[in-house]
Amino acid sequence: MYMRKRFYCLKIGGSVITDKAIAYTARTDIIQKIAKTLVSLKSPMIISHGVGSFAHTSAKKYGGKNGYSDPWGIAKVARDAQAINQIVMDVFLDAGLPAVSFSPRSCLLTKKGELEKSFFDPIKEVLGQGLIPVIYGDVIWDTMQKTTIYSGETSLHLLIRYLLRNEFDISKIIQLSNVDGVLDEKNEVIPEITQKKWQDMKVHIKKMKVADVTGGMGHKVEEALTMTKYGIETVILNGMTDAFFNFVENKEAKGTVIR
Ligand code: IPE
Repeated sequence: MYMRKRFYCLKIGGSVITDKAIAYTARTDIIQKIAKTLVSLKSPMIISHGVGSFAHTSAKKYGGKNGYSDPWGIAKVARDAQAINQIVMDVFLDAGLPAVSFSPRSCLLTKKGELEKSFFDPIKEVLGQGLIPVIYGDVIWDTMQKTTIYSGETSLHLLIRYLLRNEFDISKIIQLSNVDGVLDEKNEVIPEITQKKWQDMKVHIKKMKVADVTGGMGHKVEEALTMTKYGIETVILNGMTDAFFNFVENKEAKGTVIR
């Protein structure tokens, strides 16, 4: 029987790989720690990362979500997203990972923020060859409003849906955050979220206080819930602690499962 190829999806939050409180600050040590765990995962995977205090800083200043007024400004947002991607790629390659970067702004075109066209075939090819495609939160060109901004999750989920239609299956989506999972009002980790539970929980979820044009943890949960329609589970883990490593090693790890 023909076997569909299985792979892991990893979303690394911008708050993990950058210090969101200090503009243009990458956490290279954390990226290295994640890279080491990825080496031990030894599985086909695709990775998407956030852009944290790099492109969020410029997107806050110049916009992009609903178009822009300053052409130089939007170019700067695009460049800042690429700058943090470059840092991540350098660390991944140094760790020995065969990672190849793709910018969503070159694969996607939107109309009023909604996907109009996508071209993911080269990413599928790279994944099929056993390399690791890496995408990130980015400015996306839009035929009606000039631009929009897609988070790392939004582009990842579009890519996943395409791969599901094209002979691939997903083991799991792992989201690395800077907290232990989705936290309730007492700062405790909510172990499991379903669509039903989410409506009641929503009001209690802690709001992030720093610059974030794509909406913080609530956005991440909602994106993860859309994937449950395809039978895909998302696990949110702390990317700054040993949680991800423990999870990969099948040891006890704190986190939130969205199913
Ligand atoms: C945001 O991407 C993209 C831009 C601001 C250009 P993400 O939403 O994936 O980034 P993080 O994880 O919040 O930093």
